[in-house]
Amino acid sequence: MSMSRNVLSILTYSRIIRGLLPAHLSLLPAPSDAALAHSARLSALIAGEIAASGGWISFVRFMELALHAPGLGYYSAGAHKFGSAGDFVTAPEMGRLFATTLARQCAECLHNDVPAILEIGAGSGRLACDLLAELATLECLPQRYLILETSADLRERQRNLLLRELPHLVEKITWLSELPSSIEALVIGNEVLDAMPVHLFTTSSDGVAEVGVIAKHGAFEMSRRPATGQLRTAVNELHLEPGHTSEIHLAAHAFVRTVAAHLTRGVIMLIDYGFPAHEYYHPQRSSGTLMCHYRQHAHDDPLHLIGLQDITAHVDFTAIARVAAESGLELLGYASQAQFLINCGITDVLAAISPHDTAAYLPLAAQAQQLMSPAEMGELFKVIALGKNYPDPLRGFTQGDKRHTL
Ligand SMILES: C[S@@+](CC[C@H](N)C(=O)[O-])C[C@H]1O[C@@H](n2cnc3c(N)ncnc32)[C@H](O)[C@@H]1O
Repeated sequence: MSMSRNVLSILTYSRIIRGLLPAHLSLLPAPSDAALAHSARLSALIAGEIAASGGWISFVRFMELALHAPGLGYYSAGAHKFGSAGDFVTAPEMGRLFATTLARQCAECLHNDVPAILEIGAGSGRLACDLLAELATLECLPQRYLILETSADLRERQRNLLLRELPHLVEKITWLSELPSSIEALVIGNEVLDAMPVHLFTTSSDGVAEVGVIAKHGAFEMSRRPATGQLRTAVNELHLEPGHTSEIHLAAHAFVRTVAAHLTRGVIMLIDYGFPAHEYYHPQRSSGTLMCHYRQHAHDDPLHLIGLQDITAHVDFTAIARVAAESGLELLGYASQAQFLINCGITDVLAAISPHDTAAYLPLAAQAQQLMSPAEMGELFKVIALGKNYPDPLRGFTQGDKRHTL
């Protein structure tokens, strides 16, 4: 059965998030022949797995393969994803203001005897590069900067960027293929939770159905089956009305549990777009938040341009906080990105540059507008901080902490 989604509401979110252009599929820029051949190879892999699984795979498995299949998935293969020449722009890719400001929160944790920074999902390496450069200026470098990145291709790009821009600090950086058995660190993940595969479901008077993917006449289609096990239990706990199609982030929850189990002391700081559960699963958002990004355009069809486009969903921060508490983590703070950056001192960073030095000041002022405006990233993006054996307050949440809304 094919599914229709509320395209307009999804496109509205996309514009707000990243200044992306909403697009009808027919208006998207055409991929090159090589890109189409790449997409065909990944589609063949997925079709093979569907056949081997009896004709249906869950959407979460489809998304995992589309984004992360070794050598073929969107994040694993060589496409240019980040920045204005790629598919979307993240906060660190806009310029150095985000990292320069975040460095003030990092410096506070490092002063409080947290010895290392562990960045999860480092993308192009830009955040690592600008954070380390600023921490060097603040004379507050961590003993080690660790990067956990699933994509071999991105690990290579990160290494090249850091070797080029910070050759004198590269010895501090270690790339990990898995979490160390125990770690004391400030763990940072910017736009990582939204890149983790989600389960798709619908509710009806018959109960909860899981959405999956089938292959029919050489094309993929969405298809539903009655939900079972952990998914059915988790969706039933949301108490949704019939007719709700949305996502649930069981993989992101498992990720938080894993990091919690390995962290002996420190802070986990996750920055992403999303809402508390009562907004996420509000009846007016009954078609969910799944969306796709391709060359600065946004649309809602994950079965299009497989492997060439990003697929993403917003984060349910209430669920992240609940899973964290169940895993022995303390909720240290939850705030909008704008409020967090103000608390960290973004205005001091700006004030350090003279407005008369227009070449330096204007780009920073433009970045501040994008990072903080409620119409852009300021309100939709949130920062959540989770701690273990970390008793000190965090400066990023001194004003406007919204833990009570989760
Ligand atoms: C949307 S990008 C964000 C990149 C970067 N943090 C930024 O803000 O520009 C998501 C990143 O997370 C990585 N990633 C996705 N799932 C991951 C996981 N389970 N563990 C580690 N990295 C992951 C992707 O390969 C990619 O580097």
